Amino acid sequence: MSNKIQTLSGYIHEYAKSVQNPDLFWSRVADSFFWQKRWDKVVEWNFDDPDVKWFTNAKLNITENILERHLFIMGDKPAIIWEPNDPEEASRTITYSELHKMVCQFANTMKAQGIQKGDRVIIYMPMVPEAAVAMLACARIGAVHSVVFAGFSATSLADRINDCEAKMVLTADGNFRGTKKIPVKAVVDEALEKTTTIEKTIVLKRTGLDVTMQEGRDIWWHEAIEGVSTENKAEIMDSEDMLFILYTSGSTGQPKGVVHTCGGYMVYTNYTFQNVFQYSQGDVYWCSADIGWITGHSYIVYGPLLAGATTVMFEGVPTYPDPGRFWAICDKHKVNQFYTAPTAIRALQAYGTEPIGPYKLDTLKVIGSVGEPINEEAWHWYHDHVGKGKCPIVDTWWQTETGGMMISPIAGVTPTKPSYATLPLPGIQLAILDNDGKELTGNSVEGNLCIKYPWPAMIRTTYGDHKRCQQTYFSSFKGYYFTGDGVKRDEDGYYRILGRVDDVINVSGHRMGTAEVENAINEHPKVVESAVVGYPHDIKGQGIYAYVICDMEGRSEENLTSEIRQSVTKIIGPIAKPDKIQIVSGLPKTRSGKIMRRILRKIATKEVSNMGDTSTLLNPEIVEEIMEGAK
Ligand code: PRX
Repeated sequence: MSNKIQTLSGYIHEYAKSVQNPDLFWSRVADSFFWQKRWDKVVEWNFDDPDVKWFTNAKLNITENILERHLFIMGDKPAIIWEPNDPEEASRTITYSELHKMVCQFANTMKAQGIQKGDRVIIYMPMVPEAAVAMLACARIGAVHSVVFAGFSATSLADRINDCEAKMVLTADGNFRGTKKIPVKAVVDEALEKTTTIEKTIVLKRTGLDVTMQEGRDIWWHEAIEGVSTENKAEIMDSEDMLFILYTSGSTGQPKGVVHTCGGYMVYTNYTFQNVFQYSQGDVYWCSADIGWITGHSYIVYGPLLAGATTVMFEGVPTYPDPGRFWAICDKHKVNQFYTAPTAIRALQAYGTEPIGPYKLDTLKVIGSVGEPINEEAWHWYHDHVGKGKCPIVDTWWQTETGGMMISPIAGVTPTKPSYATLPLPGIQLAILDNDGKELTGNSVEGNLCIKYPWPAMIRTTYGDHKRCQQTYFSSFKGYYFTGDGVKRDEDGYYRILGRVDDVINVSGHRMGTAEVENAINEHPKVVESAVVGYPHDIKGQGIYAYVICDMEGRSEENLTSEIRQSVTKIIGPIAKPDKIQIVSGLPKTRSGKIMRRILRKIATKEVSNMGDTSTLLNPEIVEEIMEGAK
């Protein structure tokens, strides 16, 4: 494709052009897509409200750009290669023409079940091709999908359904994860007791687990699609119509629905996919994320399929049936680009190099990392043993809100540097601000990572609450989008992400608000108050450390901590379960009653030699007690 950068000087040139004349730059990129009507303006924006529009008044359907655009020349090319949890089960290959039929048929099915343009549809499904079909079928008819990671609890699912007032849930009977069969429909049933807006659910049969089907509400997927036409005319969407909502955690208790729209998201995910991974036609690309996260949206489904790529989807876990599974899949499907998370790399690194031994990994050309900072040790292990020293690592920094990759090497084109996301992609104008909002120019600086110019896939709003979007991202530093991350620009101008500077922790690449976990802990009837902080964890990157004040009457400490863990699992899901729970008699507070997390973080990270001045606390004596307890 003409927009593919192939040399370092090409990158420098493209980057410069993207800053000097963003309109021209992005209109040139957008020209390679199929638009029902071209745009009037490339971008209109202000970061105060914020109000951001890309490709104003353009009309399109993203699925026409995935399906129709590719059918003519590559209808027989594999679009999705699906690898099941059990290596003994056959994998599935779905070509672009088959995908077209499946998407059209399911689009017609949803319509027949009462879904119209603008309706919200929840997807709560295992990693099976039908999950991607479900997303694309929504996009085909202009319904707004909101995928909820199938590991979230019934309460979390219900909260999301209620927040976006969804009309339909697409789900499955169960989910194979390693040796386990996880009930999925049962979680939906429990969630739907707390919601009122869902009219229909469509249930895919996958595990054969027993399920209860509610008459009039629940329909089997295979029955719903029976006899339904595989032809469908795509709904014509405005560039700024909503494509999807994806809930993500922030520093307040309730996750927010990040809204992405059609035109800009399409252009940006395709552009970044092609460039960062240097995908060439015929390559097989695999991203091991779950479609419940933004990485799955942008770089399993939309980006690769827009580029006409072959994308691998894996249902299982990295350690089943053994810790060589990832490498077995790379060899089996001759994967050329592999994209995973540092937490998976560290977990596999812990098994040593033996599980890699039987595999050649000789088709790999590019390996990627996403979701959290990758430490140097893991970077080198990945580079030497998986990439065999010959594959560039693309350490891609981005967020649910950015929609696509923002800072990353371009494989084989721009340099890599261990633990550095390196350089901004074309179109991305970064700024490092100090705490007073002053932009720090030049190299060798460190501060708050902000972005000063819009990019096509950026967040447009938080669903149902635009003010929250303004306050969360655009109010800390006027005129800038604030990422919530700290960053360093080194002496050579390369960027290294230092982690979150707000009350968000990153556990195994999953974002978690400390307040959200605290709320879940506080639901336990014996809990009086709690405070949650992150601490360094060898595999997960960060672990969850909870300090909890409890009414201990009639309970042992052991019972209570295990009950608290269970209750967090029930309210949010297993990913939010605290790694450490310390029962305390009080929490360090300022005179105005604010918890001093700085102190709790230091205790959790065992950096207790310098606690700073604690004399101004309301209860300085508690610090010593907590430190003792932590031992
Ligand atoms: O702190 C950064 C971290 O993950 C956050 C975004 O999380 P989420 O919206 O769940 O999206 C994850 C997948 C894109 C960021 O604010 N993060 C993401 N990628 C990196 C990273 N931190 C360091 N290096 C990265 N490559």
